[in-house]
Order: sequence, then structure tokens, then C-alpha cells
Amino acid sequence: MSTETVEQTPTPITPRSVGTALGRVDGPEKVTGAARYGVEHHGEDGLADPLYAWLVQSTVAKGAVDAVDPAAALAHPGVVAVLDHTSAPRLEDTDDGELAVLQDARVHFRGQVVALVLAESVEAAREGAALVEVGYAAEDHDARFSADGATYRPDSVNPAFDTDSDQGDVDAALEAAAVVVEGEYSTPHEHNNPMEPHATLARWSDGDGDEVLRLVDSTQAVHGVASTVAPLFGLEPGQVRVTAPYVGGGFGSKGMPHASTVAAALAARAVAPRPVSLAVTRQQMFALTGYRTATVSRFRLGADTDGRLTAVEHRAYEQTSAVKEFAEQTAVATRMMYAAPNRRTSHRLAVLDVAVPSWMRAPGEMPGIFAHEVAMDELAEACGLDPVELRLRNEPDVDPESGKPFSIRRLPECLERGAERFGWAERSAQPRSTVDGDWWVGTGVAAATYPGYRMPGNAARVTALEGGRYDVAIGCVDIGTGARTVLTQIAADALAVEPADVDLHIADTSLPSASVAGGSSGTSSWGATVVAAAQAFAAAHGDAPEPGAEVVASADDDPLSGEHVFHSFGAVFAQVRVHRWTGEIRVPRLLGVYSVGRVVNPTTARSQLLGGLVMGLSAALHEESVRDPRFGHVVTQDLASYHVASHADVLDVDAEWLEESDDEFTPMGSRGIGEIGIVGTAAAVANAAYHATGVRVRSLPVTADRFLEVDR
Ligand code: MOS
Repeated sequence: MSTETVEQTPTPITPRSVGTALGRVDGPEKVTGAARYGVEHHGEDGLADPLYAWLVQSTVAKGAVDAVDPAAALAHPGVVAVLDHTSAPRLEDTDDGELAVLQDARVHFRGQVVALVLAESVEAAREGAALVEVGYAAEDHDARFSADGATYRPDSVNPAFDTDSDQGDVDAALEAAAVVVEGEYSTPHEHNNPMEPHATLARWSDGDGDEVLRLVDSTQAVHGVASTVAPLFGLEPGQVRVTAPYVGGGFGSKGMPHASTVAAALAARAVAPRPVSLAVTRQQMFALTGYRTATVSRFRLGADTDGRLTAVEHRAYEQTSAVKEFAEQTAVATRMMYAAPNRRTSHRLAVLDVAVPSWMRAPGEMPGIFAHEVAMDELAEACGLDPVELRLRNEPDVDPESGKPFSIRRLPECLERGAERFGWAERSAQPRSTVDGDWWVGTGVAAATYPGYRMPGNAARVTALEGGRYDVAIGCVDIGTGARTVLTQIAADALAVEPADVDLHIADTSLPSASVAGGSSGTSSWGATVVAAAQAFAAAHGDAPEPGAEVVASADDDPLSGEHVFHSFGAVFAQVRVHRWTGEIRVPRLLGVYSVGRVVNPTTARSQLLGGLVMGLSAALHEESVRDPRFGHVVTQDLASYHVASHADVLDVDAEWLEESDDEFTPMGSRGIGEIGIVGTAAAVANAAYHATGVRVRSLPVTADRFLEVDR
């Protein structure tokens, strides 16, 4: 039955299950191995007996493919076909250079897909891929990032912020300032590396029915995949059905489809109606599935002798790829972080012959606030102020950029609560003043922020079942965050039933449309929609509905166009130990205190915040992708040479949150928790390392070699 979507303004719910630690509703499936990921869906839904695809990647960084010789590959047992730019099916739309897979001979970056092998087994496909001979006409490339080479000014930065901002007279204010801190701060290339690599199962149906292309994709947005992939093939989004029942993390890299998803669909079209299974390898993810650009932030802070900022300037430099533009919003959070009458930000890009950068774990906020918060630590020292006190003195009354009030801005309470719990009052003002055996010991603090986002394009369906139960459906994806669990709680409260009475369905484009699991917006966007649908249902059918009664609704409130701005805040405290003789750095203690609106489920929220803190720790100490500019590829392309923090790195890490409810933002009072944990954390660690050693590290990661030149 098809139901018209009604618009409903959601009103605050009375929390009953919301706020309690309901166990993960998908916990049993996950711990018993019943939950199936990406390419584990063989045998379902006509996806049995697939061919296996293996991607062949360019070994030059720029130029053209001369010829692809498939003969040796085709002679290998089990290999069925080799597709290249001359033989792959044509796409209807090739405007997106990242997604126009195998459409022409051009090579834009090292690691680009130049051929694809299909075989009866994954082993044969892999062996076949090694046997494909690709000839190139190589051209000179530029894959070396430097701030001075970053001269291109994009029209806007991710997703649609102004490239530059300028308020007051920064130069005059800096001239007149009693204290000036000037510094260059940098963060390296980083790769998202979710636990589950990208993977797609694809089947192309004969004819032009309702479901021409079927995809099981490891993605943060099934509707996003359908609406992006459909036009490439000249289809309507409704002709592409995408599911993603379980996803092993995304960290931004699965926020939009990359080349591998299109490659799987192209291959499935070539061998229709046989399904195709394509699993991207860990190594291939370092060229094909997005990454965080390296950044350089040039800061100038001007302040009076009391530490009150008079000028903030943040000039950000990053890279994009020649084949497709992505401009990270590195300096955008600087526009709202602290009060200062004179403020200037800018973004400039180096356009390089490299793989396409994209979203990664708080794109913008993470590298930008790292720079800002280390600069603030330097300003605190220059002013002779405690770094917590410096931040308290620079609290704005309203959003400095827009002039609008914040719905809730409790950064001071986060700082004060964290300082109390961490024992900050006992901290020595003097760097390198604490030695414990062979270890220097220090502590550091940094602030964090992340905007509250509500995404458009959501709808949810509520259907009455027998026995007072409800079926609730929305096409969002749970990438491991706990979305299934918190939406069950939100639906239960909105329908005034128990969570066990809600049968929740997600992650399928045959369900009402849902926005991406990104921008820390999922719970807010989908939750508000589920509440709207429940309230529209109650308005239409009361609380004793006939089984089968159904309503589809979307939320028509738009808090972001109202009189407030919405941001979450946090304060991160770190203790660092640096070994005097080896420079080894450890973080025995990490604490984040957050203002994130109402917490829907303390168990899953804590897990999100701790995960963010661990990502921040990982960025502080370990994560760095090294690109060899001579050849254009990332040489650290595995989890041995690209270390992501593991258990042994993570010692005492804790998160807590302030009790609050942002009723203006969502009917649950929640504001979003996915990404704020990573913001500020690396700065807290770098600041603590300075306090421990007296060595100021302005570029991530903070590695042992930084401390070897110290006079002992
Ligand atoms: Mo997240 S990096 O906003 O997908």
C-alpha cells in the first residue's frame, strides 16, 4: 500500500525509555556472528552464485592507459572477463571524475581503477588481476603537498560554507595587541580505515522494471547511494534498490559512494543477471575510498594583557585532487569558537594529481580545532594565564560569526567540571617540572565543538500491528553507532509503548528516505522524523488503532532557520608521560566532558564519545599516511604501517556529559555525539606533551623523535 507523506511538526516527547541504557537491540546478532556485512549476503534475494570482481589499479600518477592486454588473465582458470575503458559498459553521466569508472583512458592519480577482472572465485579474480598487463603513456605529475603551493580558492568549503570570512580589522588589531601568538600548525594525511573495508554486491536485472539495479553496499546512506548511482546509469533512484543491514564502521569514508560501488554496478551490468561481489582490499582503500587531506593552519592571535582575544586569524591550506574537488572546512569552527571583535579565516587548496579526499571523522573541526587549541595553549603561556582560565575569559555572549545566540553553550561548565574531576588545580604552571623515574609527566587541556545538524530529506512510516505493537520504518543505516537501538527507544516513547513493542526496520531504500549517517546528524534527523511520524499517526488513528493503520510523515520543523545556533561543546583533559631517554609518549589518562543535548542512551553514547576520544588519541600519537610524491602513492597502505590506536595504546579514557535537553533542536532534546569526541583531543595531548617536556609540537602526530633533541 502506498501512503502519502504528511508534514508534521514534532513536539517534545516525554522521555521514558530515552535516557535509559537499553541494551543494543542488535547485540545478539552481532555477538553470535549472525549479523552479515557487505559481501556476506550471497544466497539472499537472488544474490546467489556471484562472480567475484577484483580491481586493477594504475601504477602511474598521471597520463593515459595505452593498452590493456587481458590475454594472460583470461587464460587463468576461473577468470571470466576483463573490463577496461574500451569494454566496460558506458555510463550516461561522467561528470563526477571519481565515479566515471573505466569510461576513458585518462589516469588522474596513482591507484585509479584501470581494469576489473571477473572470475568464479575471489582467488582467481585476484590472480587474474595480477596478470592483466596495462601499458601507460605517463605524464609528469604533481603529488607534493605544501602550504605555499596551495593557491587555489574554492567557491565554498564542505559542505557549503563561505570560503573566507573577514570581520573587523585583523591587521590593525594585531598591530595594537599587547600579546601576539603566531604559529603554523599541521595535520597529516589520514585514512579513515573503518574495520570493514568497502564492499558491494550488485545484480543487474534484465528489462526495465522497478528494480533494475540491486546493491548491497557497505555505506552510511542507502538512499544517498541510490540517488548518486542511478543517474550514472540513466536510471531513476527508485530503480536502484540498496540495502546495508550491517556496516562495520564508516568514519566518513562511506558517506557517499566511491569508485568501487560504481565498478561493482558496471560489472554486474556487463554480466547481467549474474550478481557480482566486489570487496575492496585494505590496501586499495588507501587510494579509492577517500581520506583526510593534510592541513596547514597559519594562526595569528592577538590579545590584551588579560588574555582577552582582540584578533583571530586562521588561514588554512589543504589539498584537493585534480579529478574532483573536495575542500575541507578546516577554518570554519574558528569563526564561532571564541569572542574576538576582529576575525579572519580563509581556505586555499593545492590541486594535485592524487586520489580524491573526502569526509573523515569530523572533517574541518578536527584539524582546525587542533591548530586553534594548541595556539590557545601558547597564548595562555604568553599571557601567564592558566589555559582553562584563558578559555573562560574568551567566552562569547553570542555566536561571534552570526550574532545569533547559541541554544545552549556550556563550554565553561565542561571546562570547570573536567578541571575538577581531573585534579587540574594541582597542576604546576611550569612546563617540565614533574619527573617520575625516567618519565616526564604533564597535563593539557583543549576545548571541542561540533555543530548540531538536522538533515533534510527524511520520512518515517508507522504501521499498527496486532497486540498494541508497531512497525516503524526509516531507511537510515546503523554503521555501528547504535542507531537501531536509540531509534527503537525514541519510537517507543513517541508511541507511548515499550521498546519491545516496536519492530524497527532500517537500511533499505524500499523504506522511507533517510539522510546520511554523517555529520553527527543521524539521531537528530531520523529521531525527529520518527517522532513526527508517531505523532502524525496518533493524530490520525489515536492510541488504539486498527492493525494495518499506517502513516508516513516527515518533520517540517527547521530549527536551523530559527533564532538560535546549535553547537555541542566539550573539554578534553589529557595526562602525558614522555620517556626522557627514548621520547616514548604515553597517554595514561584522557577525560572528555561534554554538552551534547540529552543523551538518548548512556551506553551507546558513552561508546561514541570514548570512540571519538580514542580516534583523537590515535591522531595525536599514531595516524599518518605517507605519500611518496615521486610516484604519487601512499606507502603506508596497511594497518601495520598505518597504525590506528589499539587496546595497548588506550589506558584510562573516560567521558561524561552534562545533564541538559536541547528542546529547540529536536523533540528528544538531543543534539548529536558522533564526532565531537575526536575534536580537541589531539590538541589536549600535544599541550600535555608540552607541559611534560617543554617541547612545543605543532604538527601531528606527536612522535618520539620530537623529544630527542631536548637538553636534559
Ligand atoms: Mo562523518 S566524517 O560526517 O561521515
